Amino acid sequence: MKQHLPELVNLPKFDDPRGNLTFIEEKKHIPFKIKRVYWIYDVPGGQNRGGHAFREQEELIVALSGSFDIVVSYGSATQRVHLNRSYFGLYMPPGLWRHMENFSTNSVALVLSSTSYSEDDYIRDFDEFLRFKAEV
Ligand code: TYD
Repeated sequence: MKQHLPELVNLPKFDDPRGNLTFIEEKKHIPFKIKRVYWIYDVPGGQNRGGHAFREQEELIVALSGSFDIVVSYGSATQRVHLNRSYFGLYMPPGLWRHMENFSTNSVALVLSSTSYSEDDYIRDFDEFLRFKAEV
C-alpha cells in the first residue's frame, strides 16, 4: 500500500464532555507498522526542523498540540500542509523532501515512524535528493 504523495489522515475522534479521545492503529489508519515514535517540542519561534528526505521510512506526523506547517518539496514545486488539530495526521510516504516550520508556542509534533533510526536512510542534501528521485 505504498503511496507516492502525502495524504491527510482523519483519525477517529471520540467527543466527550470529559475531554476528547483520538487513537491510531497500525495497518488500519496508516499503511505501516509503527517501529518508532518521536516528538519535536520547545521549538523556538522562527526555527525549522526536519529538512531532509527518507529513502525508506514512512511516517505519520501529528500536531499533538498547537500547530505547524509541513512543507513538501518536489523539485521546483512545493506543497504546504498546516496541521492544527490532534485528530489529523499527515501520512508521508518515502522519497519526499520535507521540512516543518511556523511552529506555534508550545506546539508538539508527534512522528510515528515505520523504521528504527538510521542515519543511512536520510538524504540531507537537496541536490542529492533530486538525483535520487531521478534514479527511482
Ligand atoms: P533529525 O531527524 O536529523 O532532525 P532535524 O532534521 O530536524 O535536524 O534528528 C536530529 C538528531 O536527533 C539526529 O541527528 C540524531 C537524533 N535522532 C535519534 O537519535 N533518533 C531519532 O529517532 C531521531 C528522529 C533523531
